[in-house]
Amino acid sequence: MSNTKTSQLDLDFIRVQTDEAMTRFIDSLDLPTKLDEPIRYALFAPGKRIRPLLAWSSAVAAGGEGSDALPVCVAVELIHAFSLVHDDLPALDDDELRRGRPTLHKHAGEAAAILAGDAMLSLAFEALASVQPHPSANTHARLIAMLSQGTRSMIVGQVYDTLGGFKESLTDRERTELIHMNKTGALIHAACTMGAVAAGADQRTLDLISVFAWDLGLQFQVIDDLLDVQGDPSLVGKTLGKDEKANKLTYPASFGIDESKAIIGTLQKNALSKLDQLGPNSAGLRQLLDKMTNRSH
Ligand code: IPE
Ligand code: IPE
Ligand code: MG
Ligand code: MG
Ligand code: MG
Repeated sequence: MSNTKTSQLDLDFIRVQTDEAMTRFIDSLDLPTKLDEPIRYALFAPGKRIRPLLAWSSAVAAGGEGSDALPVCVAVELIHAFSLVHDDLPALDDDELRRGRPTLHKHAGEAAAILAGDAMLSLAFEALASVQPHPSANTHARLIAMLSQGTRSMIVGQVYDTLGGFKESLTDRERTELIHMNKTGALIHAACTMGAVAAGADQRTLDLISVFAWDLGLQFQVIDDLLDVQGDPSLVGKTLGKDEKANKLTYPASFGIDESKAIIGTLQKNALSKLDQLGPNSAGLRQLLDKMTNRSH
């Protein structure tokens, strides 16, 4: 397998590139131990690294080198890890298990989890500026705007998910979609489109990757909802059944299992049609879509 163009991507190679770049970056900061340790605990836990994989594959789909997206890979994984740490806090989902391990606030205390999350949010932007290869000044400015928007939407989604406050006129389906597109879809969308921009994508390619990423991002959270209901506890690495207990607006809760599966299928089909239009460079994205659709964790 190779990491360029039309062939399948070596996902382990991309994960290693991402983790090595994250390690070099965190090492370079020389943070105090009480901050350094919780950040590393959250960041280097065995996550799937889906967002870096998508950023890298989108760079390839745009005709560039996957490694063009390395600063994006580090930045989006930092935002994602921050979002998980805060999502698990007692004030939000109050979770005890993450990536098969105790959540950060269980491991290091609530203050450390809040502060490590704060730090990772800020470090994501620092990484975009310092991880090599450096983008041009123009590209860098675009990437900062895209990462800011993706993060803002993720937080907006968490607000709807946690506090509600919807417009009265919205149906349950619209509310659930609003939560999911924001809390999860937006950062997946940012990962894909930023990867493409880092590789100098033309407008047509960027537009196709953008539409693909919205379908994929929504599909990702519908599958996460389903796994919470019917996943295998030994594989998922999170406490299951918690959405129903917390009375969350999810696809299975609102539409049932069968309809949720049908929605997953439709989103996959829509996403695939965009990859068909992107052509052979999108083989890596196709591989990831397939992997994510059939995932058990
Ligand atoms: C979990 O994301 C939270 C959601 C947005 C659904 P992932 O399923 O990508 O979690 P990790 O990174 O593999 O732990
Ligand atoms: C997570 O949604 C979304 C973010 C972390 C932004 P969930 O609350 O469903 O994610 P898990 O199931 O805890 O990973
Ligand atoms: Mg949550
Ligand atoms: Mg949660
Ligand atoms: Mg969930």
